[in-house]
Amino acid sequence: MDLDISRIVKETSSIVLIELVSHDGSALPLYQAGAHIELKLPNGLLRQYSLCRLPTTGMSYEIAVLKDPHSRGGSELLHKMQVGDRLQASYPQNHFLLKNPRKTAILLGAGIGITPLIPMAQMLSKTGVDFALHYSAKSPASAAFYDQLKTSVFADKVHWHFSNSNSRLDIESLLRGFTSHPDLYICGPSQYIEEVMNCAKVMGWPEEKLHREFFTGTKSPLMDQVPREMFQVKIASSGQMIDVPPGVSITEALEMNGIDIPISCEEGWCGTCMTRVIDGVPDHRDTFLSPQEHARNSLIMPCCSGSRSDCLVLDL
Ligand code: FES
Repeated sequence: MDLDISRIVKETSSIVLIELVSHDGSALPLYQAGAHIELKLPNGLLRQYSLCRLPTTGMSYEIAVLKDPHSRGGSELLHKMQVGDRLQASYPQNHFLLKNPRKTAILLGAGIGITPLIPMAQMLSKTGVDFALHYSAKSPASAAFYDQLKTSVFADKVHWHFSNSNSRLDIESLLRGFTSHPDLYICGPSQYIEEVMNCAKVMGWPEEKLHREFFTGTKSPLMDQVPREMFQVKIASSGQMIDVPPGVSITEALEMNGIDIPISCEEGWCGTCMTRVIDGVPDHRDTFLSPQEHARNSLIMPCCSGSRSDCLVLDL
């Protein structure tokens, strides 16, 4: 889709809200809470951003962009863009759906990770489902959507945790307060997600009640494991065999042979490069797929994962 920037609002010193409308004025595809769009930036980079409010008129999308001090050219460029600039975007996709939209949910967001949780809170509030939103940030000044949430119809469900004022989230005591195991939806930096997930698992939360979405800067720790041996990738449609030497990713090896797979984070957390495995055993190094999906070995993130077998046959 061709989208134009129609509004830019400075949410905090490092976060801007960008409103996008269709270039030809048509209505935009609808989406459910937790969805994101992938933007193709003028420099060719692909970047994913959560849609940070429930669709209302269907005429615009809103995303929030944190200026990453280690930006590889994505967030920095978006922070320089102006109203009227054009971007290409994918249709909304959703890997972070409300799995049980009629049951109690606990939403846990840190920093820019609040963005997909806002439409979830709006949805749950609209349908009268019991929920709580725990928002961790450094301070009120660094919390995007602070005013919006403070004045929202569900303001009483929002619990603020500011690290500079001794109100940091105590995950253990929060989770200890539940006699049942409600669905937990977690989004933020990898350390935060891991902390919540680990604590919940220790306290008996079933895996299927834990839902998380990673954000920029959450490189999979598995990527730093021992280097792999050389292996081969077979392209199922053509039978072409491609060598993947140690230190080279599958996507890089494919690209050298003229086969392009869309990539974005190149760190195993966004899901853009997900490819079906027809045969062989992947060496999973991503954080996008769940442990159960890793065990099934039918999908791979070729930007960061390798192969435990000599050959991987990919559905390309
Ligand atoms: S490009 Fe993000 S998971 Fe591969």
